[in-house]
Amino acid sequence: MIFEQLSAGGCKSYLVGCTDTCAAALIDPEIGLIDRYLGLASRHGLRVRYLVDTHTHADHFSATRGLARQLGVPVAMHRMSPAPFVDLRLDDGDMLLVGKLRLQVLHTPGHTRDSMCLRIEDRVCTGDTLLIGATGRTDLPSGDPDALHDSLFNHLLRLDPALLVFPAHDYKGRVNSTIGEEIASNPRLQVRDRTQFSEMMRNLNLSMPSHLTEALRSNMNGAKTVAQMLAEAAAAVPFMSLAELKTRAESCPDDLIILDVRERDAYEEGHVPGAKQLPRGQLELRVNQDLPDPTRRIVVYCEFGRISTLATATLRELGFQRAVALDGGMKAWREAGYPLKAGREA
Ligand SMILES: [Fe+2]
Repeated sequence: MIFEQLSAGGCKSYLVGCTDTCAAALIDPEIGLIDRYLGLASRHGLRVRYLVDTHTHADHFSATRGLARQLGVPVAMHRMSPAPFVDLRLDDGDMLLVGKLRLQVLHTPGHTRDSMCLRIEDRVCTGDTLLIGATGRTDLPSGDPDALHDSLFNHLLRLDPALLVFPAHDYKGRVNSTIGEEIASNPRLQVRDRTQFSEMMRNLNLSMPSHLTEALRSNMNGAKTVAQMLAEAAAAVPFMSLAELKTRAESCPDDLIILDVRERDAYEEGHVPGAKQLPRGQLELRVNQDLPDPTRRIVVYCEFGRISTLATATLRELGFQRAVALDGGMKAWREAGYPLKAGREA
């Protein structure tokens, strides 16, 4: 078996491959590591056959949906997953065949209703059900401390104590432990009484994970994150540097349209001399009157360089094939000490 653990900010994901057949599964992949997963799979000569999330993640952005589209392979999750894009809904006791490997599903609700662990030969990927020296929290959507107690004490911890535990999180750089080690030394597992265990879990008072709402929106609906929207727009448009715009605006201003997509107040406070104002929110409504010639070169800018990237991608889609985004925004322009004009253009 090929078994690779990848870490990103405390989140762990796994590439599990069958050496005989070269089939592989990716468990809990994260969008920031997509190129690494694919690079690693090709380095080992593996073909990814399944994308598996052990549960609906609230603290990182799952790559399963995006990779499923890219690779044409199914997303597998527990059947209770709220995500509509899950291709393969699994139940307790089901197995996924990855070449000659068997990935055995254990439904272990508690951290979330759709949490599952995957037993693979001598090890178990425990998701956020069991962590090294801790357990998953139960205060996020669909969490339930009583269910977690049951999943741990009546299910997971009854497995062979020698099984290696590979969790979905570890913030201290540890790689794995075993079921036996966790039973012996995991502080939360020393509280065996169900009522006391639930009481302890209810009183952890953990802070909410950053990006909670965006992670749930993205992982439950397969929606894009804001960063993905920006990255896709940035990949679809060319950019112009601040210095290049300054030179061109001074030497041959008639060769290009400089388009400020901020609101009027910001524009009148100070804009690139000669710039025309068309707020991003009105772009599609006014584009036909304000930009009648689709063959003109258009340089688009905003305050920070993000909204202008989206606006440029929209203009390109609308047929303005020479629209480019400014690399940077008015903030960088001001900081560079480049010329500004206040009020309206004549
Ligand atoms: Fe989680």
